[in-house]
Amino acid sequence: MTQDELKAMVGRAALDYVAPGEIVGVGTGSTVNKFIDELGRIKDRIAGAVSSSDASTARLRALGIAVFDCNDVGEIAVYIDGADEIDGQGHMVKGGGAALTREKIVAAQSRRFICIADESKLVGKLGAFPLPVEVIPMAAQRIARQFAALGGQAMPRTRDGQPVVTDNSQHILDVHGLSIDDPLAFESSVNQWPGVVTVGVFARQKAQVCLLGTLDGVRTLNFG
Ligand code: 5RP
Repeated sequence: MTQDELKAMVGRAALDYVAPGEIVGVGTGSTVNKFIDELGRIKDRIAGAVSSSDASTARLRALGIAVFDCNDVGEIAVYIDGADEIDGQGHMVKGGGAALTREKIVAAQSRRFICIADESKLVGKLGAFPLPVEVIPMAAQRIARQFAALGGQAMPRTRDGQPVVTDNSQHILDVHGLSIDDPLAFESSVNQWPGVVTVGVFARQKAQVCLLGTLDGVRTLNFG
């Protein structure tokens, strides 16, 4: 099975967590795109979606799924999203698609976070994947120096030689070389740095369940 097929498998499996009549929280990325395609097949059975990025919103709307603003809905029963890394407690690194801020907002509004990922994303400790951090541009260099003091090398994310601009009109630093021993403490600390919009460690908004795509099928990890 290819990585793409593993992603499709967990995208399909996530439908089991969607109850009829609900508004579904929808993440961002190539794995979530598989889920959105599955959601399209049952669109008449759901009330709609809350989306974590302009890209997911466009894909949902193209399939005829209504997309609601966070402010127009109450608590969301379930949020389905991918991850760049997930550890054995459900802590994640996210933001490879630059959507981390809205992902954290929708996750915070949701009762349960169901992570869908292929097995390459499961790690013993977070930090091998360069940590995405959304920052206010004027603070980027100082934040990079703060990461250097922790042993990390922060690189501005660029595309075609230009800074990547997020859906919130901010920039992304990708921090290499970190080893994150205590995800909750790390997230709490970096969140306080002036100019940090969102750090891509999801420990407060961790996953309750991970549907992991393996060559033997979908493995369900429950984190409580
Ligand atoms: C986007 C994310 C994605 O969930 C993460 O990058 C995983 O993406 P993919 O499913 O394409 O591997 O956090 O900001």
